[in-house]
Amino acid sequence: MPLAFFTAVYFDGFPSWFPDPFRLLKATTALTALGITKWYSSGRSNPSERNMHGRVVLITGGTSGIGASTAFELARRGAQVVLLTRQPASDPFLAEFIDDLRARTGNQMIYAEQVDLADLYSVRQFATRWIDNTPPRRLDMLVLCAATVLPPGSERKETPEGVEALWMVNFLANFHLLGILSPAIRAQPFDRDVRIVIPTCSSYIAAPKLDAELDGLGTKGWLDEEWAPARAYARSKFALMVFAKAYQKHLDAYKRPDELPMNARVVLVDPGLARTPGTRRWITRGSLWGLLLYLVFYLVVWVFLKSPHMAAQSVLYALMDGGLGRGAGGRLIKECMEVDCARKDVDDEEVAKKLWETSDKLIERVEKEQAVKRARAKKEQEKREEEAKNKARVEEIESLIGSIKQGKAKAKGGEAKKGEAQQAEANEASKKGKKKGKAGGNNAKYQHNNHHQQYHDASHRHPVFFTDKLRRPPFSVAPLGAQTSPVAQGYVYQDGVRSGSRL
Ligand SMILES: NC(=O)c1ccc[n+]([C@@H]2O[C@H](COP(=O)([O-])OP(=O)(O)OC[C@H]3O[C@@H](n4cnc5c(N)ncnc54)[C@H](OP(=O)(O)O)[C@@H]3O)[C@@H](O)[C@H]2O)c1
Repeated sequence: MPLAFFTAVYFDGFPSWFPDPFRLLKATTALTALGITKWYSSGRSNPSERNMHGRVVLITGGTSGIGASTAFELARRGAQVVLLTRQPASDPFLAEFIDDLRARTGNQMIYAEQVDLADLYSVRQFATRWIDNTPPRRLDMLVLCAATVLPPGSERKETPEGVEALWMVNFLANFHLLGILSPAIRAQPFDRDVRIVIPTCSSYIAAPKLDAELDGLGTKGWLDEEWAPARAYARSKFALMVFAKAYQKHLDAYKRPDELPMNARVVLVDPGLARTPGTRRWITRGSLWGLLLYLVFYLVVWVFLKSPHMAAQSVLYALMDGGLGRGAGGRLIKECMEVDCARKDVDDEEVAKKLWETSDKLIERVEKEQAVKRARAKKEQEKREEEAKNKARVEEIESLIGSIKQGKAKAKGGEAKKGEAQQAEANEASKKGKKKGKAGGNNAKYQHNNHHQQYHDASHRHPVFFTDKLRRPPFSVAPLGAQTSPVAQGYVYQDGVRSGSRL
């Protein structure tokens, strides 16, 4: 068939229905160029593999974008994945996300722990819980994918603790988490290849010089005047890189009890620009018009931006490549290759020291302030609870007194009636006595008996506890027509319910 077609084309030229060859060539060239561009912008795939069975991975940002793809690939390979999420594990969306991940990967060892990276106290609570274990918990990998980005033109935001939001989530929370987890990381047995993978962003290249920016860190309105979302994001990412390098030195400086070299390595990763929810929010500026334009030009976005799956390849390479488990830590990976840092001051020890110290001081100050606030709030809460308890107690006593009064009133009413009846009976008896001549002696005996009976009647001594309600058996246990009452059988009743014991 193709041979016949080409023969016909050779002798008679292209048939009339066949498109213009020049146009066809143009279209083919355009499609090929598109394909090559797409292939190039998708980046390299991870060429390394590693047995992940039984390895414990803590991952932040594992519910979205690059973090979600990384969590999926790790779970698929059998790792035990602990997602550190800002939502509690009981959140229905999170529960559904985990169920789905378990079903797709066939791995049941996927869990969630609540860690809000915008809250230092939340980070501390999780990290102290994690390290509070003897022997130290197994920890093979820590992937810090969570980050926040604000669209251009956004207002500067602060967390409820008063720290600038981008600095807090992108840098300070990771600093705090790694600081507290440090003993757990250093205590891992020597044969464990521990990796701490920190995604960064090429925007760090344009970040302002850090040492000048650190003055006044944590004070109200820090760098307020020159604050812009892109600048703040780049600053936080650059600070994270400086800290990552310093953290590797901190780990290396530790003298292990077995005197073997440090087996934990920090790896920085630049995943490249990807079509993740974070990027979409940034491109669309979080507006509906922006979203509409995004959809209209989706083909451009699709061609030039990586899928989250492809962006996760460098992260997976950093976690799996055997070569990265040997030699020095603190390397930067891009497109599944080791690359040099574009900024020399990322290795500046003076800047790193200042960054470490100012961050430590900021955390200490904020945590102290928050601890005082929490203690005050707790005291107020306790006071409120105590007041509520006292009020309930007073109401209970008042209702008891009311019942006692009611009981007494009832008893008085009964006595009066009895007195009248007795009087009538006495009158009757005296009439008869007159006849029989014994009236006085009988009346005195009756009154004595009546007094005796009243004294031994428990409802007079304890009018509240022997009310009708307590004494009368409920219909359920004393059905109509039952010959003997359960009370008569000796059962004890409390609020109309029969208790197990007999009198
Ligand atoms: N995407 C890119 O083009 C690109 C480029 C270069 C570098 N990177 C880096 O790659 C990493 C992943 O980026 P991405 O675009 O995949 O991110 P993303 O889709 O925006 O997801 C961010 C993740 O961080 C979590 N997160 C945000 N604030 C949090 C908080 N206060 N507490 C706990 N978790 C919080 C989010 O949780 P929720 O789901 O609850 O919101 C979400 O899971 C980031 O470090 C980013 O800087 C990305």
